[in-house]
Amino acid sequence: MARIRHIVFGVMLIASLSVISEDSVVFTETELGFIQSHGPWPPVFEGDSSNRLSGDPRAIVYGARLFSDLRLSRDGSISCATCHVPENNFVDGLSLGKGIEDGVRNTTTTSNLAFNRWFGWGGDADSLWMQNIRPIVSRAEMDGVQAVRNLHESDLEFGGWFMELQGEAVQQSSDEEMLVLVGKAMAAFLETQITGVTSFDRFRIALLSGDQRQMQRYPISAQRGLKLFSGRGQCSVCHFGPNFTNGEFAETGISYFTSKDVDNGRFSGIENVKTSPLSLLGKYNDKPQSGNADKTRFLRKRHDSFGQFRIPGLRSVAETGPYMHNGSLETLHDVVGHYSHIDLDRLHTDGQSILKPLNLNTTEIDDLVSFLKSLSDDN
Ligand code: HEC
Ligand code: HEC
Repeated sequence: MARIRHIVFGVMLIASLSVISEDSVVFTETELGFIQSHGPWPPVFEGDSSNRLSGDPRAIVYGARLFSDLRLSRDGSISCATCHVPENNFVDGLSLGKGIEDGVRNTTTTSNLAFNRWFGWGGDADSLWMQNIRPIVSRAEMDGVQAVRNLHESDLEFGGWFMELQGEAVQQSSDEEMLVLVGKAMAAFLETQITGVTSFDRFRIALLSGDQRQMQRYPISAQRGLKLFSGRGQCSVCHFGPNFTNGEFAETGISYFTSKDVDNGRFSGIENVKTSPLSLLGKYNDKPQSGNADKTRFLRKRHDSFGQFRIPGLRSVAETGPYMHNGSLETLHDVVGHYSHIDLDRLHTDGQSILKPLNLNTTEIDDLVSFLKSLSDDN
């Protein structure tokens, strides 16, 4: 009897193993190479040498307080957290950002920015602190330069922080110096906003170490999606590395016309960085001798920069819709559908030969979406 039970158990085991092997996905060497690039997570962050407040605990607390303070805007109605809602993965859920006036770009998440090289959809800033200053100055967003000054002059706590970190009172500082300090403190805070480990990360480790049991915890549909992502879909070529972006710019056939005129993306971004006194080439870079401005120094506008946008990181992407620089695609299904039927005639820049219509069937579209969803952490 015991023997029969053993045999029955053995048969069941073989049956279940064969189901597993039929269902498990086999990756090619190239796919495995890309998958390897997507970790480990989180990468080590060395700190931002251009920002002396990077990693400073006082600046992190001060920056966090500034980030949510409505008094940073002209009419006291808008803080950074109005659009970058902390409980909502630092996005607003709208197609286009809405400040004092309506904007023309989709609000990006402010998570995982410690690893970026350029900031904003067009790379309009070359440091996180430079990027943080823009919405305060922008008339359409917060129009808050005077408001920031008033806050530091009237509020003892904010005035005290400023004095401590700047070494002089806000009254002695120019508007530009004041904004740089505020931008750097908020950068110190935002650098700490890093998303958690995901089911994809656990699968990646299991796959690379051959841990079959752990691998099976990852849905088969996500595995097939990952295979498409790192293989035939060529998504990993642009969405490369631990944060699923190579940090650069590309065009994917999304319209660059706005309700007002055109948004030429990277083209204006380069111009902005090259002409702004707040870039890493200017006097506010706290450690220019470290070579941290080299990328900016060698930046050149090219004719294919026109209409290119930053390749966004994809961690927590399921939580940050609508998608693309103009928020024109509502869901991840829409995004994958866009790549599936991409219209090559709309790609006006050269060299985007990576993108081809993939003509995915509905299961393949679901698979890619289920993979993208696995890039969100468990909480
Ligand atoms: C009116 C809504 C709105 C407000 C208010 C706002 N932002 Fe943004 N934020 C956006 C939009 C839209 C973008 C994309 C902008 C672009 O590409 O030019 C963005 C982009 C960013 C980025 C770049 C992220 C990346 O992926 O490169 C950072 C950093 C940022 N905001 C920080 C802040 C800070 C700090 C404040 C407060 C001082 C703030 N934002 C206030 C809407 C807003
Ligand atoms: C040529 C480089 C390139 C390739 C290849 C590529 N992407 Fe993208 N991806 C981009 C760029 C650039 C954007 C932003 C485009 C815009 O806003 O105009 C983007 C945006 C996205 C977004 C929206 C993210 C957000 O926060 O709005 C998702 C999701 C995405 N891509 C997934 C994929 C998938 C899946 C594939 C493979 C089928 C893929 N990408 C292939 C460059 C690329």
